[in-house]
Amino acid sequence: MNILVTAGPTREPIDPVRFLSNRSSGKMGYELAAAFAHAGHSVMLISGPTALDVPDGVDFLPAETAAEMHEAVARHIGRMDIAVFAAAVADYTPATIAPEKIKKSAATFTLELVKTPDILGSARTPFGFTGTLVGFAAETENLEANARDKLGRKGCDLIIANDVSKPGIGFDSNQNEVSLVYPRHTEALPLASKHDLAHQLVQAILELHISQRL
Ligand code: CTP
Repeated sequence: MNILVTAGPTREPIDPVRFLSNRSSGKMGYELAAAFAHAGHSVMLISGPTALDVPDGVDFLPAETAAEMHEAVARHIGRMDIAVFAAAVADYTPATIAPEKIKKSAATFTLELVKTPDILGSARTPFGFTGTLVGFAAETENLEANARDKLGRKGCDLIIANDVSKPGIGFDSNQNEVSLVYPRHTEALPLASKHDLAHQLVQAILELHISQRL
């Protein structure tokens, strides 16, 4: 099967030397891409900048900004059976990019931000993706309710939700503890390394994909 995985943070430029970004390491997405490839599938990994090596047997497309990732996904999602959106896409980007390095002349400095395109939210419409759609939700409160709301709003078949207020899991960690939020039920998985968890998630996603096509 053809699988698309997005991973890593995006970088939104402020001026030639600065950007806005977040703490995503990309580990979960890279482990998922590796696990899908290990299971014999054809994987395209579209990733923001990370310190990770591209897993063996995975096609790789780098994307720096949310806009670049949006364009890359738009170009490739049409031929995918499954798409998993693990990237921590910046929700906002500077309204303008200063052509020269901004000088620290003023005592205060205000940056105007505009919303980035919602890539996962574009998958069904306008991209027209009809395969199995999986998103992530990082929440600090009301984990299941917020994830379930995201599931409906973005037309997903599954949301992998984690509570980022818990220390030692999720962002920039080697471990994660997630709940699988499906349209009709939720399944909590125990704390595991991102490597082991990726194999469990791939199993769950492939089972979901097959059950939808029966
Ligand atoms: N996502 C995306 N494009 C964006 C923002 C998010 O594809 N511009 C994807 C992420 O890859 C992830 C999911 O959407 O799969 C997260 O949804 P989002 O609504 O951004 O989650 P939160 O950041 O938790 O949103 P909110 O701030 O609304 O809670």
